[in-house]
Amino acid sequence: VIPGGVYGHLKTSGLDPSLPQFFERGDGSQVWDVDGKQYTDLMCSFGPMIVGHGNPIVRRAAQQQAELGDTLSGPTKRMVELAELFVETVPSADWAMFSKNGTDATTMAVTTARAATGKRVILVARGSYHGAAPWCTPNPLGVVAEDRAFLKYFEYNDLPSAERAAAEAGGDLAGIIVTPIRHDMKHDVELPDSAFARGLRALATRASAALILDDVRCGFRLNVQGSWENLGVRPDMVAWSKAIANGFPLGALTGVSSLKEAASSIFVTGSFWYSAVSMAASIATITLLREHNGPEQMRLTGSRLRSGLLERSSANGFAIRHTGPVQMPVLSFDDDPNFEKVLHWTVQMAERGVIVHPWHNWFLSTAHTIEDIDRVIAASDYAFASMRGKFDA
Ligand SMILES: Cc1ncc(COP(=O)(O)O)c(C=O)c1O
Repeated sequence: VIPGGVYGHLKTSGLDPSLPQFFERGDGSQVWDVDGKQYTDLMCSFGPMIVGHGNPIVRRAAQQQAELGDTLSGPTKRMVELAELFVETVPSADWAMFSKNGTDATTMAVTTARAATGKRVILVARGSYHGAAPWCTPNPLGVVAEDRAFLKYFEYNDLPSAERAAAEAGGDLAGIIVTPIRHDMKHDVELPDSAFARGLRALATRASAALILDDVRCGFRLNVQGSWENLGVRPDMVAWSKAIANGFPLGALTGVSSLKEAASSIFVTGSFWYSAVSMAASIATITLLREHNGPEQMRLTGSRLRSGLLERSSANGFAIRHTGPVQMPVLSFDDDPNFEKVLHWTVQMAERGVIVHPWHNWFLSTAHTIEDIDRVIAASDYAFASMRGKFDA
């Protein structure tokens, strides 16, 4: 009764039929599939889970709000409290608006940039994912050229290419949208060159265009203040979703005060955008991440994971790359142009009770303990060993 079965990023068809597809439940760092098999979850629902499946503090906040009401005929106080929390936490945020998904947030950002400037062109890094709406979906089926008529493309980490795209836009540049790191599927993760990030900031300022940071995937895993804060680059708007409510559906757009009027003038809404349960969950999640320095905790466990995997792969005679911030890494093998080695390894990891992905970045959470990480490293030893004889080391 469902076209294509599971669609989008969660589908395992096209990977391997043995990988778990339907799940029964989750608890902390662990999930159970519908056959009752338990796994350490290194995909964290592809990002949303950040303080543990069913985190008791987040769950209690959500339950308390659910008792009072969720989708009412107007927002609850939680919306104002959450906006205040964003403004207090994120230096580039003077205001916040809420939606449901990351695509809502990036689309709202682009609309706000155009409304604020009266200009049309948006610069986008080629291959970067910003959501599933016609202006940004990676699958062009059902999309018409006019949906993207005012996009111009540059290469990630290549400032001259962005400057050329801006020059082509002439006086019509409304905004530049960019992800904090390059996390394209089937690529090693690339960190931003700080000169590139600073250059985009200067380019947007020179053109009186908005710099939009798409922090949907990285948000709150690298730095609770925003993922380019450590580079000293402050965007004009930031799009958020995924981890901000630990799996409860919520998107957010934050921005600087000069864009407040434009943000308040555009028409954006949705039947469930004001639902209070997700907002209560978000307040609890962000508070937890701030209080316990969540990103640093994930950096410590992630570093242990990285060194363990590099050590186990080399002990088994395989050369791997484990790239990106340790909180959201990608593992790839040398000499693996068709991803056969990494797919085999992923299947073996699942066999040993660990969920990873062969070409999408993984996600750590604060629920992953040192013991979890050591179990993953032990499983990796079996997975690497199973490749000997099958693949050239
Ligand atoms: C960087 C980035 N932007 C936007 C989106 C779209 O978010 P959503 O799937 O919640 O619409 C995603 C989702 O993976 C993303 O990674």
